[in-house]
Amino acid sequence: MISGSQSGSPRNTLKHRSRLSDVVALAAIALAGVFLLHSQISMHSVTAAPATATAAKTTEDGIYSAAQAAHGKDLYSQDCSACHLDDMSGSGEAPPLAGEGFTDSWVGHSVNELDQTVLNTMPLDNPGSLDPNDALAIVTYIFQKNNFPAGTAALKNDPATLKDITISTKK
Ligand code: HEC
Repeated sequence: MISGSQSGSPRNTLKHRSRLSDVVALAAIALAGVFLLHSQISMHSVTAAPATATAAKTTEDGIYSAAQAAHGKDLYSQDCSACHLDDMSGSGEAPPLAGEGFTDSWVGHSVNELDQTVLNTMPLDNPGSLDPNDALAIVTYIFQKNNFPAGTAALKNDPATLKDITISTKK
């Protein structure tokens, strides 16, 4: 039945086709208009989204919470201060973790690098013993001691996020 209705004289087919193509052309124009409007709207959101997602974040951007740093402070006193001292000025072989002694070596590196260093190599007498969230909390306490401002949200223990944040003293 369907193939029957499509068959006919060449003329009829032509007529039918041309009417159809008019409709198709009109529809195409209408669609193009809608599409253009749409693409203008969506192009706005598409360009806006990556701009915020890829905007370089630094340790000056309030990347951790005060509560997270307070938790880190408790852990630091237990696991780190024996060698790096309470004020993070360092002692003996243990380098300073605050002030220029710290920023001179760490500015330009990612938060992920610092976090991984703590997680994999510290405490020197028991490396690998820290819970990953605890290691990150200690890192945020190090940031607080370096006068990097706290923000409203805790820093998430997510490598992609941590890789995107650069240690910087530039505001
Ligand atoms: C037993 C002493 C000792 C303890 C405890 C200790 N550290 Fe260390 N830490 C060192 C020494 C020594 C170095 C330098 C040698 C090295 O990098 O392996 C160091 C290096 C570091 C570095 C690299 C600093 C740089 O600029 O290269 C960081 C960060 C660090 N420690 C953080 C911590 C944290 C956080 C803790 C607690 C979880 C901790 N350390 C506990 C002795 C210690």
